[in-house]
This record gives sequence, C-alpha cells and structure tokens, in this order.
Amino acid sequence: MKERDFLAISDLTSKEIFALFKRAKELKKKFHAGQKLEQTLKGKNLALIFEKPSTRTRVSFEVGMEQLGGHAIFLSAGDSHLGRGEPIEDTARILSRYVDGIVIRTYSHEAVETLAQFATIPVINALTDLLHPCQALADLFTIQEQFGDFKKMPLVYVGDGNNVCHSWIMAAAHLGVPLQIACPKNYGPSSRLLERVRKTTGYVPTLLDDAVEAVRGAKIVYTDVWVSMGQEAELKKLRALEYFQVNGELLKHAAPNVKVMHCLPAHRGEEISMDVFEKHSALIFEQAENRLHVQKALMEKLLADEK
Ligand code: CP
Ligand code: NVA
Repeated sequence: MKERDFLAISDLTSKEIFALFKRAKELKKKFHAGQKLEQTLKGKNLALIFEKPSTRTRVSFEVGMEQLGGHAIFLSAGDSHLGRGEPIEDTARILSRYVDGIVIRTYSHEAVETLAQFATIPVINALTDLLHPCQALADLFTIQEQFGDFKKMPLVYVGDGNNVCHSWIMAAAHLGVPLQIACPKNYGPSSRLLERVRKTTGYVPTLLDDAVEAVRGAKIVYTDVWVSMGQEAELKKLRALEYFQVNGELLKHAAPNVKVMHCLPAHRGEEISMDVFEKHSALIFEQAENRLHVQKALMEKLLADEK
C-alpha cells in the first residue's frame, strides 16, 4: 500500500483527518456561497470502478472532481475487462499509466488491497463488503460540524454488523470515538475484523444484543440497511433484525434530544421507521451532502500536486 491510498480510516492520521475537515469546511462554505473553487485538480483524471450500484458515492466523486477542475471516468462492471476476468493486478498497472487515481467499489476488500499494491497511483475505497471509510469520514465531519468534538459524542450503532458498522469500529479504535453497538447475535460485526482491531490497537467495542439497552440515554443513534448490496438472498436476516428497528418506541429510551444518522439508502419500515426518518431527515441529508465536500478534500490530499 502506498502512502497516498485510502482503504480504511486508519490510513490517515488523526492530524491528517482534522486538516482534511478544515479544508472540507472551507470547500463547503465556498460551494454554498456560489464561489468557483480553486482548480486544484486541473489536468487530473480519476477512474471510478463500480462493481456495485451507487448514487451518492459515484455522483459526489464525479461532481467533486469536476468542481476542482479534474475529470472522472466511470467504469461499471460490464464496461471494462475487469468484469470479463482481467486480473485486478493488470487493471491496476494499466490504469496507473493513464490516470492519476482510482476510486473502487467492489465486493472483496482483498481485491482493493491488491489493486492498491499493484497501482502506482492513489487508490480510494468507495465501499467493499468489509469497509466504507469514505462514509465514516463524512459522518465524522458531520458530527464535528453539528456538535463540535466527535470524541465527546457517544454514538450507538443499531442494526446489522456490516461494512458501515466496521468502519465505525475502525473510527472508534483509531480516533477514540465513543461507540456502542447493538446487533442480533448472528449478525454482529466480523470476528476477524474485531480480532484484527484488537491486535493492532487494543480496542474492543461494546457489543450488545439488546437495542433498548444499547440506546439508553444515547445522544446519537446510527443505522444502516439490514441487507447490504450483494446479500439480497439473505432474507432470514430481516426476521433476526426486527427488534433492531430505529423507531419512536426504541428512541423513547434514548436522550430526549437524540439525533439519528443514516448513511442512505434507507429502507423505511426495515432498519428505520418512516416517521423517525422524516423527523431526522435534515441531519441525514446533511450527512449525504458532506460526502461531496469531504471527498473533495480527500481527493486534493491524495491527488493534487505538492505545493
Ligand atoms: N451511502 C452511500 O455510499 O450511498 P451510495 O450507495 O448511493 O453510494
Ligand atoms: N451497508 C450498505 C451501505 C450502502 C451505502 C451496503 O453495503 O449496501
């Protein structure tokens, strides 16, 4: 892995993350003031390889690149030879000769690590089955923006122990975010990931299988879909997760002014009730918007020429 890859939250130091958030804040302010942004990525090309669907991630990277003067090339699974079996090692070496960076969303996290190993240009993880670090980065920025210090805002993750949950575990281990997780017994976070985090950082998250217990007094409750992309056949999960819906009843046990976050897309009636989603939609859509600003700062950091 190169210094300029972003495959997991831990690839940036906390100092780098705070610097990135400072820049994201500036970029957001200028964006809202209707000012043209400095063309820091002029002449840069970014390949976006997406083997899973996306609305937010794809559009925020493409638009972000354009706003900074660069250009993005979208490659879906069916558009490139990767989808026909060309090895990821060769894709890495070819793209390194044409473009300045690669954003990839795929199934296997190991495939992204291999891509990063063989590429000579920065690689950004836009979601794997294991992690979604760009989401966690924008969420941390949102918490900082809304509430000040994210280290002082305990977050309770409720639902499936998936890629987003794993990125929160990494964020907690790496940055000291106070985290509590509520998942059904068979759908908790990956034990391999927990073991790796414990070995490398000593961090062990608080895992509960009772959502009511987990959200007691909570200030931020975070949830994500129960069935992630690629798991559509796992329907019995829905039964196992039914007591983990973030709804008005559950939130009665949280702090009176509890905030709810969701990375989207949301399945109303599954992980979140319609009324809770709408009540907290301003924060949820701010979270989604922040993907754009934070990823622009990230692309500048990884792709822009050193000044
Ligand atoms: N939250 C998120 O990554 O959304 P997309 O799947 O639309 O990119
Ligand atoms: N856990 C979800 C996140 C979507 C952004 C998935 O992987 O489908």
